[in-house]
Amino acid sequence: MLENLRRLVGLNHESAPAPAKVPAPAGGPRHVGVIMDGNGRWAQRRGLPRTAGHKAGVEALRAVVKACPDLGIEVLTAYAFSTENWTRPKDEVDFLMYLIVEYCRREVNTLNENGVRINAIGRIDELPALQRDEIYQAMEKTRHNTRLVLNLAVNYGGHAELVDTMRAIAAEVAAGKVRPEEINEDLIRTHLYTAGLPELDLVIRTAGEMRLSNFMLWQASYSEFWVTDVAWPDVTREVLEQAVLEYKRRDRRFGTVLQQSR
Ligand code: FPP
Repeated sequence: MLENLRRLVGLNHESAPAPAKVPAPAGGPRHVGVIMDGNGRWAQRRGLPRTAGHKAGVEALRAVVKACPDLGIEVLTAYAFSTENWTRPKDEVDFLMYLIVEYCRREVNTLNENGVRINAIGRIDELPALQRDEIYQAMEKTRHNTRLVLNLAVNYGGHAELVDTMRAIAAEVAAGKVRPEEINEDLIRTHLYTAGLPELDLVIRTAGEMRLSNFMLWQASYSEFWVTDVAWPDVTREVLEQAVLEYKRRDRRFGTVLQQSR
């Protein structure tokens, strides 16, 4: 009866507009974002300075990166430093900047051995020259790898990304390359920092808070959200496996009522 009704009003699955974006293939998420929260609390609970939590956080990131390809994850976006993090005490900001350089220098060989390509999203050109250059060098040195893209969000903000996207499109309009009526979701996607990467399927936030904190605002519109009380430095492969398992149980509908077969 429902089918008849659809025919009567001219609606069927073939002619209906497709959901905003094609879901991930059957199984697990292709693109996972991690909001690596709780480093400071982890350290404070141990009577350590907050920076010790960030240092331990790098170890956790190492374990998660290693586990991703085994779970079928193709892209991991790690929120390492936000556009708002500059307001933290200078010592902490300096330490995070130091960790970024250390990570890029020390990790490149291991990443190459594991087939991981580093990419960076955010206002990379506005970072101090040392950080900017190390990031670009790490990207260059790992650019041939294909097992996993490690997308480091550094000096990243979802609002800043949308501003940059709009500016880029406005420049093309001003240059006569794009007409305003040609601006649509696909055009916007191709101007985001994540252009060319698969859709963000799953956002994991550690340390219990239920907010996006300016993380991938466009991309997360239909992502699944999974929050754990575990602080980021305590995250292991098993925690990632748990998140992926939960993701596979979810029924992603992308605004429609049809059940996606998994
Ligand atoms: C949030 O925890 C975490 C950050 C602002 C930094 C995340 C950075 C890392 C995990 C390590 C750096 C990564 C690389 C690639 C060098 P918080 O400090 O806000 O924790 P709290 O909420 O408990 O205070």
